[in-house]
Amino acid sequence: MLFKRFLSSVTRTDVQHFTKILSPPSVLSTLQNAPSAELDIYNNDWMGKYKGSSTTVLKPKTTQQVSEIVKWCNERRIGIVPQGGNTGLVGGSVPVNDEVVISLQNMNSVRSFDPVSGILVADAGCVLQALTDHIASHDHIMPLDLGAKGSCQIGGNVSTNAGGLRLLRYGSLHGSVLGIEAVLPDGTILDQLSTLRKDNTGYDLKQLFIGAEGTLGIVTAVSILTPPAPEASNNVILALPHFNNVLPLYMEVKRQLSEILSAFEYMDRTAYDLAVKHGQGRALADDEIEGAECFVLVETSGGKREHDEEKLETLLSTLLSASNPLITTGVMAQSPAQFSSMWALREGITEAVSKEGKAYKYDISIPLSKFKECVDATREQLRSKGLLGDGDGMVKAVIGYGHVGDGNLHLNVIATRYTQEIQDALEPFVYEFTASHRGSISAEHGIGLMKTHALQYSKSDVSITWMKKIKALFDPNGIMNPGKVLE
Ligand code: FAD
Ligand code: MLT
Ligand code: ZN
Repeated sequence: MLFKRFLSSVTRTDVQHFTKILSPPSVLSTLQNAPSAELDIYNNDWMGKYKGSSTTVLKPKTTQQVSEIVKWCNERRIGIVPQGGNTGLVGGSVPVNDEVVISLQNMNSVRSFDPVSGILVADAGCVLQALTDHIASHDHIMPLDLGAKGSCQIGGNVSTNAGGLRLLRYGSLHGSVLGIEAVLPDGTILDQLSTLRKDNTGYDLKQLFIGAEGTLGIVTAVSILTPPAPEASNNVILALPHFNNVLPLYMEVKRQLSEILSAFEYMDRTAYDLAVKHGQGRALADDEIEGAECFVLVETSGGKREHDEEKLETLLSTLLSASNPLITTGVMAQSPAQFSSMWALREGITEAVSKEGKAYKYDISIPLSKFKECVDATREQLRSKGLLGDGDGMVKAVIGYGHVGDGNLHLNVIATRYTQEIQDALEPFVYEFTASHRGSISAEHGIGLMKTHALQYSKSDVSITWMKKIKALFDPNGIMNPGKVLE
């Protein structure tokens, strides 16, 4: 990698210095005789696709410690990878070479929660599920939810501008994050930990850190607006005979459920079958899935259970009694356990994919009407190259699922192993398809290491030039997550 020429490797002297800033258990280094296997979880990404060779992992407990470490690294030109829960899906959270990993896992305290405003201020290393649990007792929920909630951290969520399953209802983190505290690449602490809903005092710097993927600094704390917990939630899985019914169904569901609709999630038949095969959530009965080409999970969240259930039941009965029904079946959760297990079916697809094989994961925004065409065209592309089928080095399945309400398709290509031939068949094919529909090559997962070469499919030259100027302004020495987002 080119940037390696400009950056220094960590030395024993550096490690000795870090040990003065942090207590010894917070420094993990092979240069201090830690077995390299202990660093594996920090050097390897969630998918087992990207692998770094860092010798040193630092786990600060305070913003001041982060600042001192970063200042030293900047002076010594040592590359830094900020790491949260390491659940990212684009290779952004692990080193490319031997950058030092700064793990936020020990910065995991809630700083404050105001039950009146619903504003939560938390250290960046707080795990999303822990924050959800913390505010549940105050009848609030986090404005975002994702399958990785048990491991991902709020700092990682903000740094990737994670979307997830609640974006349809609560919008993106660009709206709900009210403030951040960050350590800039020279070690300066930027305190923008505002708890104000309204603050029009010039440039909104925090927005730059939302989705910066650790390339502009290290987020050390987040202030976020959390909504009140809905009084009642319910969900239903709808089986559809054709993909073409998804759009009319979405329109009808929005029309009938209006303000109580909180999620509209899509999975094609292959994705559903894979989730069931790997034991994710509640499988529908055989007669319920007969003839189904795809499925939609609809969630409602509202203020009155009887009212919401009545609306959902009316929706189901009008859908099923139509002369040309859009759905073949609708299965409504009858208990909290069923509610969770229906969600587990959709949320568990990522896990099922990783159990099935090695995944090429594309996360794109394209017009809803193109979801199926994209999956079919990709499958055909692989077939035409002789790469689809059983056997070593072949693609086992091509699946589509995602957040219909957000126009976000997850196109996953599952192979027995990663190969150059499959990679070449998929790229630039998928990116060209996306660009031809003026889509985005990254709807919610980010650019990381995976898509730096493809940024131009979604960003103009002018945009990329200004992104580079911003990066150079914040990080003139290029130490912060080198090789990520921008080439
Ligand atoms: P990491 O993976 O550790 O890091 C991600 C990026 O952020 C890296 O570039 C890293 O350098 C940077 N970073 C992390 N912490 C900081 C910090 N404190 N300061 C600066 N930079 C930082 N994503 C979605 O958008 N929607 C989903 O629905 C979704 N579902 C998922 C389900 C599963 C099962 C899995 C495994 C992943 C899923 N993801 C999803 C992807 C991933 O979970 C999110 O991107 C998540 O926000 C990453 O958080 P993390 O703490 O694991 O960050
Ligand atoms: C999802 O929607 O399930 C996540 O973004 C993870 C994935 O794409 O697999
Ligand atoms: Zn997603």
